[in-house]
Amino acid sequence: MEYITVTDPTDAGRQLDALAPVYEAVFGEPPYLEGPRDVADFLERYQREHKTPGFRLVLARDDGGLAGFAYGLPLGSGSGWWSGFLDTDLPEDFTREDARRTFVVMELAVLADRRGHGVGRALHAALLDGVTAERVTLTVRPEAPAAAWYERLGYQLVGLTRPWDEAPVYQSMIKPLQG
Ligand SMILES: CC(C)(COP(=O)(O)OP(=O)(O)OC[C@H]1O[C@@H](n2cnc3c(N)ncnc32)[C@H](O)[C@@H]1OP(=O)(O)O)[C@@H](O)C(=O)NCCC(=O)NCCS
Repeated sequence: MEYITVTDPTDAGRQLDALAPVYEAVFGEPPYLEGPRDVADFLERYQREHKTPGFRLVLARDDGGLAGFAYGLPLGSGSGWWSGFLDTDLPEDFTREDARRTFVVMELAVLADRRGHGVGRALHAALLDGVTAERVTLTVRPEAPAAAWYERLGYQLVGLTRPWDEAPVYQSMIKPLQG
């Protein structure tokens, strides 16, 4: 398996056609059951996110094509990331952001028939390789197998959140990064 890190915004933008079918297949599965509207939202989101300074994309590719991908970006100071929590009030010194403190894993996806061979772990490691943030965060559906998977990677629960109106409940997780 080859792992390719893309940080150039133009190159990252060009990858979207390859990412879309993998996203559609992976997040069409339970518990996500995402449909065309959700895939369109992903495309729209990615078009914005890949232009953010500090954006990183990692592709896992072999002879069979794209097996998975991961991408993420730093949290900017105006981010609403730490709002919408349902079960906890986070202190201001925890939620303060400056585009350097926190890196977000936005998406991590491996095709079902390529799982269980270390691809996800390698994508996660490559995504964070060289990231200088103090901490990494993500949200995951509590009922998804990925929630336990992230715990195994050292992430801890921050609380439950509903990131936008009508969104399902997600759990927010965080992990310190070594400088
Ligand atoms: C989560 C996901 C990326 C993991 O990818 P993967 O390639 O199967 O993961 P790996 O093979 O690298 O797993 C690494 C380790 O986790 C373990 N593991 C696998 N599934 C697990 C689970 N459900 N719970 C706990 N540990 C798990 C493996 O045994 C392996 O352990 P080891 O390194 O000690 O042998 C993949 O399952 C996926 O794409 N899921 C659907 C999309 C998703 O939910 N993404 C995350 C939310 S955005």
